[in-house]
Amino acid sequence: SSFVHQLADEHLSEAELLADPAEKIAALGGSRHPSIPLPVDLFGTWKNSGGIDLQERGTLRDTAAAIDITPTTLTVASASAADAKAAIDRAAAAVPEWSATSIEHRAAILERLADSLEHNRIELMALAVKEAFKTIPDALGEVREAADFCRYYAARARADLATVTLPGPTGERNELRMEGRGVWATIAPWNFPLAIFLGQTVAALVTGNTVVAKPAPQTPQIAALAVKLAWEAGVPEDALILVPGGPEVGAAITADPRIAGVAFTGSTPTAKKIARALLEGEDRPIVPLIAETGGINAMIVDSTALPEQVVADVLTSSFRSAGQRCSALRLLLLQEEIADTVIAMLRGAMETLVIGDPGDPATDVGPVIDQPAYDRLMAYRESSKGKWLKTLPVPAQGLFVPPTMLRLDSLEALDREWFGPILHVATWKAGQLEETIARVNAKGFGLTMGLHSRIARSGEIAEARARVGNLYINRSMIGAVVGSQPFGGEGLSGTGPKAGGPHYLQRFCAERSVSVDT
Ligand code: SER
Repeated sequence: SSFVHQLADEHLSEAELLADPAEKIAALGGSRHPSIPLPVDLFGTWKNSGGIDLQERGTLRDTAAAIDITPTTLTVASASAADAKAAIDRAAAAVPEWSATSIEHRAAILERLADSLEHNRIELMALAVKEAFKTIPDALGEVREAADFCRYYAARARADLATVTLPGPTGERNELRMEGRGVWATIAPWNFPLAIFLGQTVAALVTGNTVVAKPAPQTPQIAALAVKLAWEAGVPEDALILVPGGPEVGAAITADPRIAGVAFTGSTPTAKKIARALLEGEDRPIVPLIAETGGINAMIVDSTALPEQVVADVLTSSFRSAGQRCSALRLLLLQEEIADTVIAMLRGAMETLVIGDPGDPATDVGPVIDQPAYDRLMAYRESSKGKWLKTLPVPAQGLFVPPTMLRLDSLEALDREWFGPILHVATWKAGQLEETIARVNAKGFGLTMGLHSRIARSGEIAEARARVGNLYINRSMIGAVVGSQPFGGEGLSGTGPKAGGPHYLQRFCAERSVSVDT
């Protein structure tokens, strides 16, 4: 039942899972960190890094000050099970009217929302930094990706959802329609509190469904602003209802037989809990679950790879966003002959990472999301002390997990996802690329994999053998681009279809075939 705490939080105690996030945040006066205060002034060191027109928009610092964490806004973080039921009542009542709107009407609303996200980017970025400790580049990427999802799904809706006429060899008129299924629940993670929250939600809306949307307990405010902007763009208030909160809210939503589908991004155990919850009840309809979860993502490097490129891509893939991306590199597999050289280069390159205040545009690595995540990662790092190849100093105050590189005796030694800035390194033997890929596949996850090699045949082997949703050859492994690199995995990493891809919207639809004898 405790499935709202996403992304590798399976080790939280029941008491922590049941704690009311609103109460927690309120008790902390806006910070979520009782024992470790936030880095000085999140926005105090802001300077214009280019790319954002701060003259026109006002500074992030002013915006952050204006976004007040007051008890009133915090009530968005504390829906109850009864609120969830009431939200579903309203969303269900709104289905007939919303599903009867035209595809064009709904697509145009998504495009207006994309414009509005860009127009309000400073406020949204400020919230991404404040609630999720996103760095400035990540916060900007967040807004861009959210807008991309809106525009892409608007375009796909126009292209893919129109009723098609199919052959009628015996004289009937045959039509295939793509229609909404009813009320969708979207359950979002804190690591992309705008892009994934909104991506899942607008996909459900544009296909003619109404939505109850549950953000992660850590990031309710950016979700609240996104919902407000969606309403202003033309989504009726009853067609999109924000239902933030803890496990009891998630449980109430997925237990409700009126939910016609769930789009979830978060941890694998939580995805399984949702899947089980959706099957409860004799008379309950069988409904789709779209789950996007984690991975033990590996990058395989052979002796023909360009070492400088490898090092740059490893740094980006492992440590950007403090390693808190489901796509992030966890396991670097170096061909034995080059391992020492690449490790030495990585040691040096890690020194260049700027760790600190996420509101400072120069920062590469900020704090991790919350105290439980910090404690979990630090305990693991401490327990692995004998294997450290490199670790970095971090500011004394704040939830900073030192970026750390660990050596493993074999790639099998890593058997779970550590959702933070911890990179594991193991070696493989020349001539064993296929076997190595098979050993990675055997872990059962299948989200991202990387290969660095200048041998064309090795690329072909990876393409044929890697059982992952996103394979990246001779580049970094993060930052899938909407419409170009549809994102999502298989196996323990999720169900598909892939977000930002051409087959995503269809899963939100009921397909109805109508045949008329003429
Ligand atoms: N879409 C994100 C990425 O590609 C997910 O972690 O990095």
